[in-house]
Amino acid sequence: MIVAIDGPAGAGKSTVARATARALGFEYLDTGAMYRAAGLADDPVRARIRLSEGRVLLDGRDVTGEIRTPQAGERASVVAARPEVREALVAQQRAVLADGDWVVEGRDIGSVVAPDAEVKVFLTAAAEERARRRADELGLDARTVLADQTLRDERDRTRDVSPLAPAPGSVELDTTGLSIDEVVARIADLVRAC
Ligand code: DC
Repeated sequence: MIVAIDGPAGAGKSTVARATARALGFEYLDTGAMYRAAGLADDPVRARIRLSEGRVLLDGRDVTGEIRTPQAGERASVVAARPEVREALVAQQRAVLADGDWVVEGRDIGSVVAPDAEVKVFLTAAAEERARRRADELGLDARTVLADQTLRDERDRTRDVSPLAPAPGSVELDTTGLSIDEVVARIADLVRAC
């Protein structure tokens, strides 16, 4: 079974997807980490990206920490707009998801990577709350994060290839004011219902 979790930056996807995978006993795939690693590569199309036991390897080099900087987020958003990069990473993602039960997070999981996913969730939250969460997590100023986030959201939403939008058949879940446990419980209900 595949549980697809899409949505904008800071909606809580990573925390929610990881906790949902743990609650259901499913594997977890963070496709954003793959775009972030690709953004650091000399050749993002041919880069060998491996996610294993919570580590991210780029051509054999451990980039787990490096991919989380704001600069790496910016570069990820730029390479993610290139069709040939998306094609290469989507192929890798489909190969990983071919076997087993997965919770997968990204922007185009329910629409492109796994359109047949049994459960599709589009997570959102108010822009200010998303920026506040990111700022707390990274120890940065909330206003700066909000400005960066607005730019990145705009680029992700308006790019020609796989723009960020709720996939057909997805359930929209606004996490503003909800605890992680509450969001996980709602997704687990959707899984049980199918
Ligand atoms: O979720 P994140 O912030 O780690 O994602 C980093 C960038 O990669 C973000 O700009 C959106 C892009 N991305 C994408 O285009 N498609 C995905 N499936 C996952 C991430």
